[in-house]
Amino acid sequence: MIKDWLVNAKHAVVFTGAGMSTESGLPDFRSTNKGLWQQKDPSQVASVEALNTNVDEFIDFYRKRVLGVKEFEPHNGHRILAEWENVGRLKSIITQNVDGFHQLAGSQKVAELHGSLQKIHCQLCGTSHNSQAFLEGSYRCECGGIFRPSVVLFGEMLPKQPFEMALDEASRADLFIVLGSSLSVTPANQFPLIAKEHGAKLVIVNQEATPFDGFADLVINNRQIGDVLKEWHCF
Ligand code: APR
Repeated sequence: MIKDWLVNAKHAVVFTGAGMSTESGLPDFRSTNKGLWQQKDPSQVASVEALNTNVDEFIDFYRKRVLGVKEFEPHNGHRILAEWENVGRLKSIITQNVDGFHQLAGSQKVAELHGSLQKIHCQLCGTSHNSQAFLEGSYRCECGGIFRPSVVLFGEMLPKQPFEMALDEASRADLFIVLGSSLSVTPANQFPLIAKEHGAKLVIVNQEATPFDGFADLVINNRQIGDVLKEWHCF
């Protein structure tokens, strides 16, 4: 079944969450017992309020996450998706991830709904740098503002361009494959439904069950994404 869908799709789109990068060594957020939000309250470290009232913990949290995306790298699953795009089997990737691993693995058409840890910008004047600078010097900008990662914080709107690209891609998809997301966060978790409503076959590959499994044409739980993609790569 999935083989036919993959081979015959005219506009396949992949939607990834943090589960896509755990096999690279990066933690996800909600995996039972080991997700980041099992240890930390996101409102204390990943929100606009935290940036304004809890800046030392905010900076410490994000310096650790920036270190992670510099220390780890894309795994074979990221490379398979890039190869699928290269041969025309995959049209685009919509990702909630901020690690930049899809692009580092070679994927070209990627909508980063939640921004990227690979970049930082000043909260006040907008001056932007590669996030390597965030690890070394002060997080203070010359203008007196604070340098912060160019990711979407809780309480912020999603960036317009990737959101509109994701909307267009989900509406055009005839095969929409979710890889490694609990589908807990709106509005990102609406894209699988939008694809489904526009006639796409919906596939969800996730270690644990998600609230959207009932809408899917195929659900694969309790398997590693890397293994599933390797298996599909043979088609
Ligand atoms: N293979 C398959 N599934 C996996 C793997 C793996 N190797 N590793 C983890 N998973 C699954 C987990 O079971 C979990 O349900 O991936 C899912 C990841 O879900 P979350 O941790 O909630 O991550 P995500 O869905 O990307 O979160 C969305 O929430 O905090 C915000 O901005 C953050 O972008 C993030 C958003």
